[in-house]
Amino acid sequence: MPRFRGLIHGSAIGFQLILLLQGFGSFPRESRRIMLTLNFVGEIIVLNTDGDHKRGPSMSYPELLAKTRELVAAAQTMGVLGAELRLRQMGHDGHPLVRSALQAVLRNLEPSLLDGLEPGQAAAIIGQLIYGLQDALNLIREPERAPGWPYTDPDVLQERGRGSRAVARNFANLARQRSALAALLRDCRFLDIGTGVGWLAIEAAKIWPGMRIVGLDIWEPSLRLAATNVAAEGLQDRIILRQENVTEINDEAAFDVIWLPPCLPREVVDRALPRIARALAPGGFLLFGIFASRPNPLSQSLSELLTIRNGGYPWQFEEVKEKLRIAGFSNIEHAVGHPSHSVIIAQHE
Ligand SMILES: C[S@@+](CC[C@H](N)C(=O)[O-])C[C@H]1O[C@@H](n2cnc3c(N)ncnc32)[C@H](O)[C@@H]1O
Repeated sequence: MPRFRGLIHGSAIGFQLILLLQGFGSFPRESRRIMLTLNFVGEIIVLNTDGDHKRGPSMSYPELLAKTRELVAAAQTMGVLGAELRLRQMGHDGHPLVRSALQAVLRNLEPSLLDGLEPGQAAAIIGQLIYGLQDALNLIREPERAPGWPYTDPDVLQERGRGSRAVARNFANLARQRSALAALLRDCRFLDIGTGVGWLAIEAAKIWPGMRIVGLDIWEPSLRLAATNVAAEGLQDRIILRQENVTEINDEAAFDVIWLPPCLPREVVDRALPRIARALAPGGFLLFGIFASRPNPLSQSLSELLTIRNGGYPWQFEEVKEKLRIAGFSNIEHAVGHPSHSVIIAQHE
């Protein structure tokens, strides 16, 4: 659904801006100055307590407010879209006054926006909206936190995890044009690195009934939920969960396909690659996830920020290709199959 992308990415900034502005009244004079300077490095905008401004070369305070309103409207529109989709999902009419106002907003956004949307697509859009808003709020609430995946709230973990079902569906798309990969996926031993709450593994197990999966993660709160999710789907026999750091795996030729997600730190990937290569059977495939680079510099820098903050690294294809070649992989290909992330496919020699 590429048409939603600008809206979602713009809104993360919108949230950051509006909450900073609303919070001004409670910050001392100096910190207000510092906060705005931090958020507009390079644009030299400095506000004083009364909201007067000293103009930098690029933007006046009224212009900033106008921009802010635009961004806030984008964030609120995300909420409207999510509300309409959730009501449809729940089979609930909602309050008649609110529902017709919601629908008026969506008509103004684009009259045919939700025409022909399938339930699976609606669920994916809801996931994207929640994911984007959680990222935005987490940035505001904990701007100082170090990169990583520190989430413990089960709702947050589950919502984020559900989005990764699309990754498994993307493998199926990629396999359609790659017969060797398709043949392996049908009946293989699959390693899901960073399995989290297990939704990618569950989706893959459903798509390929012959697949046996090991889901690996270090994060106990996620693995506990993964065990519940796997059991609820009746897949305990086919999905084995292991609490283990990927940099310490000792498997030898134990897997035919391995998924390495884009949300692992660079140094973890560097240390893990030789072990991942050893864990793959000859002829097996590594699916190395990277976030798709975007043509627009704002979207690109935002995507890089969120990747880094959630513990990942914004890989570029050429760099990965060289690393994989050194680690003993061949037939290295950049397969762009999904709007927000792409996969580097490599075969173990
Ligand atoms: C963004 S999440 C993947 C989400 C997952 N597909 C789901 O359904 O929840 C990345 C995962 O990698 C895990 N991770 C981070 N470093 C790791 C490491 N060194 N070894 C194994 N897993 C790691 C994190 O704990 C996190 O669950």
